[in-house]
Amino acid sequence: AVVRARAAIDRHARMVADFPSPGISFKDLTPVLADADGLAAVVTALAESCAGADLIAGVDARGFLLGGAIARELGVGVVAVRKGGKLPPPVIGLDYDLEYGSARLEVPAAGLDLAGRSIAVVDDVLATGGTLVAAARLLQQAQAHVHGLAVIMELAELDGRGTLSAQLGTRVPVSG
Ligand code: PRP
Ligand code: MG
Repeated sequence: AVVRARAAIDRHARMVADFPSPGISFKDLTPVLADADGLAAVVTALAESCAGADLIAGVDARGFLLGGAIARELGVGVVAVRKGGKLPPPVIGLDYDLEYGSARLEVPAAGLDLAGRSIAVVDDVLATGGTLVAAARLLQQAQAHVHGLAVIMELAELDGRGTLSAQLGTRVPVSG
């Protein structure tokens, strides 16, 4: 499945020069997911990484595209880890620092009990790792067990993996 996903990414990803800032070349995964076989390959590969979790968490916003599909493939439910201010109260939230400014992620604190659940967190891209560290810590704060973190693609030069293991410890497996 991973080989098929890699082939789909090579075939469909669109390179965008100088985005989001000059000198950066951005790999847009939109056409990969818009392709039926590309989506199937990516979702199957991620689902293999998430197997054993009893709930999938998709990270706002692009992780949503993956979370529901992976959950369906594994026969489990899905929850959205949302950016601040989107969910009705009560919520559990976590503020974290960005390079410029700060951000907040939230999960519901009512309607479902995250405590004791084994949750796999999915997102499209691992860059600095800030988003996934925050998502994992937030779920841990909600008393959940983070089963693992799965992404389609990592920007290896930013060493997000290193940040994840430094901040979360090696008990949280990362695949991508
Ligand atoms: C992008 C991407 C990841 C995150 C990775 O999301 O979808 O979620 O950045 O970066 P990091 O590892 O440095 O934290 P972004 O917040 O730009 O927005 P979106 O998913 O809502 O489009
Ligand atoms: Mg995102």
